[in-house]
Amino acid sequence: VSVPASALETFGLLRPPGTILLGEGAASEVGRLAMPYGERILVVTDTHIAATEHRTRLVAALESAGARTTVLPAAVAELPLPAVETAAAEARRVNPDCIVGLGGGSCIDLAKLIALSLTVGSPLSRWYGESAVPGSVLPVIAVPTTAGTGSEITPVAVLTDPARTLKVGISSAYLVPRAAICDPLLTHGAPPTVTAYAGIDALAHAVEAYCAVRLDSWREVRERVFVGRNMFSDMFALRAVELIGGSLRKALDDDPHARSAMAVGSLCAGLAFATAGTALAHALQYPIGARTGTPHGLGVGLLLPFAMAFNATAVPRRIEAVARALGSGGSVSDAVTAVQQLASDIGIPGSLRELDISEGELPGIAEQALGIRRLIQNNPRHVGTEEATAVLTEAHKGTALALLDGDHPR
Ligand SMILES: NC(=O)c1ccc[n+]([C@@H]2O[C@H](COP(=O)([O-])OP(=O)(O)OC[C@H]3O[C@@H](n4cnc5c(N)ncnc54)[C@H](O)[C@@H]3O)[C@@H](O)[C@H]2O)c1
Ligand SMILES: [Zn+2]
Repeated sequence: VSVPASALETFGLLRPPGTILLGEGAASEVGRLAMPYGERILVVTDTHIAATEHRTRLVAALESAGARTTVLPAAVAELPLPAVETAAAEARRVNPDCIVGLGGGSCIDLAKLIALSLTVGSPLSRWYGESAVPGSVLPVIAVPTTAGTGSEITPVAVLTDPARTLKVGISSAYLVPRAAICDPLLTHGAPPTVTAYAGIDALAHAVEAYCAVRLDSWREVRERVFVGRNMFSDMFALRAVELIGGSLRKALDDDPHARSAMAVGSLCAGLAFATAGTALAHALQYPIGARTGTPHGLGVGLLLPFAMAFNATAVPRRIEAVARALGSGGSVSDAVTAVQQLASDIGIPGSLRELDISEGELPGIAEQALGIRRLIQNNPRHVGTEEATAVLTEAHKGTALALLDGDHPR
């Protein structure tokens, strides 16, 4: 059944946590949100955050509300599957009523994966991909300390499986946390590189959600977790672009105003891509991240202007709107240049060459990226082998604007 043309303008999907609490000091409300699930609360974090005042205050807030808390500082970079399984086994002994994920995307993703493991069981590989999770999982309350991943809002958790070449995602509406507590004060003090990579990732979430395909049948909408751009994602995405474009540079200097704007911007970007999904820049990052060991945000930030330039013929009005939201002109080349400048200003390399990727590796990277169908199908312009290689070739040289003039496959 096709969505009628008149309904296309009003197509929308919103699948947020039951509660989103945003504001400075909001983290002190965690007890009120967690206690209805029971008094045994497991706080999932990493060793670094566990040693900060953020953890001390959060645990104090939970305990003053009557909770019995256990802190599990088990999140590690890239979340290798064996580490996730060990953490889940420890969590099982606590038998929590609710899991609070405190930290960056790694901690929140681990909280989601533990909730999944404790409720619907192991091995986690059974749930890889989209919509494989069979039912609801233990309640997760997400409390981010970085402004970027949007994991506090999204239906996905990402991990590394040593048996797979690329990082794997588990995407399911059941993985949306029950509550997200976005307290900008928790993001103060995050190191500059963490801030830069997470922040540009959030910009990519917003831009890719805003430019994603528009599905035209309910069957497609039903079958996917990420359903392409829609009325709600459009609203959140452009606001995110404005906020992130205007504040990411200053957030690196720990400017409190900029930190708050980034926290709101990354929340909005999360709300946009939680339903719309991301696309080409994210698909290309996976194989590049696997080869170079570079962080997700670094790769996505590097690739975003190239994906935008490539997509400009498919969604010119949307790329122009991104330029305006960034406050830099109104043409597609303005948008591409502004994103490249922002990435460069915050220390993101401008070309794949700088990541020590050789030209000979590009076809292999293209093939692996094309295998991530969820992201490739969500791109507004058709991407085949030739197109992916063309985008990578320009990204290798660092010449995004070359993708705007017609000498590449259409
Ligand atoms: N689920 C999703 O929707 C989604 C989306 C994008 C990325 N991710 C995942 O998120 C992960 C990256 O998350 P991230 O960028 O938030 O960082 P992170 O969780 O990997 O943390 C990076 C480092 O920053 C430190 N840190 C975090 N907040 C801090 C603070 N306020 N002060 C001081 N130090 C702080 C951490 O302790 C850690 O050492 C990746 O594994 C990626 O795959 C998930
Ligand atoms: Zn991302």
